[in-house]
Amino acid sequence: MVRTAVLASGTGTNLQAILDAAKSAGPFEVVLVLTDVDGCGALARSQAQGVPTEIVTWESCGGDRSLFTLSITRILQAYDVELVALAGFMRILTSEIIEAFPHAVLNTHPALLPAFRGAHAVEQALEYGVRVTGVTIHLIDEEVDHGPIVAQMAVDVLSEDNAASLRARLQEVEHQLFPQVLADWADGLYRVEGRRVIRLPAPGLSS
Ligand code: GAR
Repeated sequence: MVRTAVLASGTGTNLQAILDAAKSAGPFEVVLVLTDVDGCGALARSQAQGVPTEIVTWESCGGDRSLFTLSITRILQAYDVELVALAGFMRILTSEIIEAFPHAVLNTHPALLPAFRGAHAVEQALEYGVRVTGVTIHLIDEEVDHGPIVAQMAVDVLSEDNAASLRARLQEVEHQLFPQVLADWADGLYRVEGRRVIRLPAPGLSS
């Protein structure tokens, strides 16, 4: 079982999907949920399931991004974490976490990167008028929403969509895709070659 930490700042619907997947099938287990927002939904969900939780607020680190990242990294190391899932974690992290967990920090983003990076991807896709957006699961690097792409799935934008309706359909996709990618990652089915992430055939499947 690959020891996995989930970092989340919000309602935690992705966290919930990850917890459900880990409980039913593995091959990863969630050993820690870490949040920067005391009282957020993600915290309540993990406490309800008896998963260990840690809180590191931005303010407790004096707004120092490097110290914030280092504090989180040290906690992840103390829990012997091997894989890190950013599931709606809305703070930018610095390179310390990437150096401590090379090729092992995955983020979900509600757009087809490289389009619509940042915290307002759903609204920006609507404003721009794209007909197709989607979900990207990617490794993090030093730039925001920029690291090597592991998986993407497209979602149609409907004429009647608003941010809430589009976000809901994007999240339905995220809830399937992110746990699946984490499971495949834990199974060793990905290899990183520069910016490209190669998916290896699952054992037992002929290519
Ligand atoms: C998710 O949809 C995730 O893609 C997004 O925050 C949401 C969190 O929802 N992340 C970003 O926008 C990061 N740039 P949740 O708390 O219900 O999982």
